[in-house]
Amino acid sequence: MTYLLAVDSSISGPDSVSRPLVAEFADIWRAAGPDRDVVHRDLAAAPVPHLTTAGLHYPEAMRRPHENVDPAAAALQNELIEEVAQAAAVVIGAPMYNWSLPSTLKAWLDHLHVLGITTSSDDAPGRLHGIPVVVVSPRGLAYDNDDPDRAGDYTVPTIEKILAGSMGMDVTSVPVDFTLADRLPAVAEHAAAAADSLAAASERLREYALRL
Ligand SMILES: Cc1cc2nc3c(=O)[nH]c(=O)nc-3n(C[C@H](O)[C@H](O)[C@H](O)COP(=O)(O)O)c2cc1C
Repeated sequence: MTYLLAVDSSISGPDSVSRPLVAEFADIWRAAGPDRDVVHRDLAAAPVPHLTTAGLHYPEAMRRPHENVDPAAAALQNELIEEVAQAAAVVIGAPMYNWSLPSTLKAWLDHLHVLGITTSSDDAPGRLHGIPVVVVSPRGLAYDNDDPDRAGDYTVPTIEKILAGSMGMDVTSVPVDFTLADRLPAVAEHAAAAADSLAAASERLREYALRL
């Protein structure tokens, strides 16, 4: 089976911007080729636990004697890594929460990022190297880390650092700006920019889903 792994982490239920974009991406990707399926992991509905020992960040040979790894925790970590490793592509709904990523998404990434196993170097590609990943990141306001007055996005750069910088995955990020324009009076003046940003994101995602 060829499958897309679709990961959601929004807690906004029917108000979520990322959930319908992830679902639309998955539908387009599934219809774009034969024998395609979608595996859905909802980190808000079914969070993975936090890492309970540093041992889970290192391969067995690098663990310290006191780092007792619970076999069940190791099995879950392996399942999560293999779920990504077997995927043809991954799409992640990654809302900005407090300038950063949802803690549920962080916990999932913490499981995936294992030194020497999923990390990549030029001569030693990791287990997830080269897999395409699309990160859909709605945020209430708009950020531009190249502009000191609008800096403050620790969501997309953090995810890119882990998945692309360290693990060598092929990451494309699609931010959606000003999603709070219909909720916060102070952001209402950006309603048109919000609509434009959503339309541009939807179009980019559609094109990418067809190309993958
Ligand atoms: C817990 C929480 C924290 C948030 N923190 C920020 C923030 O730091 N900056 C921002 O621009 N928007 C923030 N927002 C707004 C969300 O980024 C925005 O609603 C976005 O659309 C969430 O993605 P979703 O619609 O898929 O749930 C926050 C929302 C929540 C619920």
